[in-house]
Amino acid sequence: MKVLKINGGKTLSGTVRISGSKNASVALIPAAILADDEVTICNVPEITDTDALTEILKYLGADVKRASESILIDPKPIVNKEIPEEMSNKLRASYYFMAVLLAKFKHVEMYFPGGCAIGARPIDQTLKGFEALGAKIKEENNKYTIDADELTGAHVYLDMPSVGATINTMLVAVKAKGETIIENAAKEPEIVNVATFLNNMGAKITGAGTSEIRIKGVETLKGCYTEVIPDRIESGTYIIAGALMGNYLKIDNIIPEHVETLILKLKEMGVDMEVGADYIYVSKKDKMKPVHIKTLGYPGFPTDLQQPITALLTQCEGESVLQETVYENRFKNVPYLNSMGANITQKQDTIYIKGKTKLQGKTVEATDLRAGACLVLAGLVAEGTTTIRNIGPVLRGYENIIEKLNEIGADVKIVCLLYTSDAAD
Ligand code: EPU
Repeated sequence: MKVLKINGGKTLSGTVRISGSKNASVALIPAAILADDEVTICNVPEITDTDALTEILKYLGADVKRASESILIDPKPIVNKEIPEEMSNKLRASYYFMAVLLAKFKHVEMYFPGGCAIGARPIDQTLKGFEALGAKIKEENNKYTIDADELTGAHVYLDMPSVGATINTMLVAVKAKGETIIENAAKEPEIVNVATFLNNMGAKITGAGTSEIRIKGVETLKGCYTEVIPDRIESGTYIIAGALMGNYLKIDNIIPEHVETLILKLKEMGVDMEVGADYIYVSKKDKMKPVHIKTLGYPGFPTDLQQPITALLTQCEGESVLQETVYENRFKNVPYLNSMGANITQKQDTIYIKGKTKLQGKTVEATDLRAGACLVLAGLVAEGTTTIRNIGPVLRGYENIIEKLNEIGADVKIVCLLYTSDAAD
């Protein structure tokens, strides 16, 4: 078993460069299938989630080459076949293949997608989008068989602004006949990144980034080049690390607007920051004020930073209140933080964090990606050694996290244990 060991209490300084966005890349890679010729996607992070998707592309027959930070995908040899369950259940984003195979071949067979266990995460809104455009869906034993004689533009109202359903509907609509309007669309920057990629291919999408997206279907899509935006959640995670342990830590290659709600919350706490055009300097503040946070879709406070910021809230003086409105089960980090010395109580969808508490290194577990990120942050500020078991989920979302943290002064390493009991305190 691989565990992550952190010797806490080290000051973080220097520069950390933010990688391309996970949640944009995982949609751009499947979207490449829609092109009739080779596409190049630049700034793709090397993480296990992007690896899993390129494996699916290769399985379908695409010619895929990795060249440093770019992926070159030639979708011409692709054949339409059922994607095995063990490939699709590795991650949530596998369901973007449902959309692109449906758009390209009007038939797809695929299983329910995987993803972090942070709530029920149904896909009803995606299926609603497909049906509105003319698809017929059969579900049996977790497997979806989706067919369409013809895909026709439609007016789709999403019951909630789902990122996945917005992207999936957009991916099918680009090749449907006529105009599609997505109402109550999600507004996340990753959606704009995908729309830009599709428009570079020759799609006709307007309004991405607002709650109404209009798509005029086209018959062909050409090869093109696109670049992945910087990862706003990775940016936020390192900004929080800076607020915990930074001494003029520079977080570089970011889009400050994409982390604005985080920056505003840190300002409320009294954290010292200097925000530039594509970077931010952050330093640790000894006395921070408590805050109230409620997670919301973009541009609200991102649910993906809710767990990471909990580590910081344990260091604020007084009671902070954190309400999670997107997922039902995204507090699995809390018992571990409490075992390290935090004072957090939960009532339904809200946690109350009483600080400031001294954190002590313990053996904890990364139950999901952002819970793991929270525990890494807690480990950076804790006294002694924190051992994080089941580190796999963290490696799904943070490129070179060990190297990046060590370069700015942390003391972090991955250790392979022969016996799980070795990981005990
Ligand atoms: N929902 C439904 N029905 C649907 C779709 C969503 O009820 O058909 C609910 C979900 O259960 C959830 C909420 O709506 O409660 C939002 O879900 P959404 O569809 O927006 O999320 P997603 O597309 O599954 C992406 C990211 C998540 C991120 C969310 C919200 C990817 C691969 N995943 O998920 O990222 O939390 O948007 O911003 O893009 C992460 O990176 O750690 C992560 C979980």
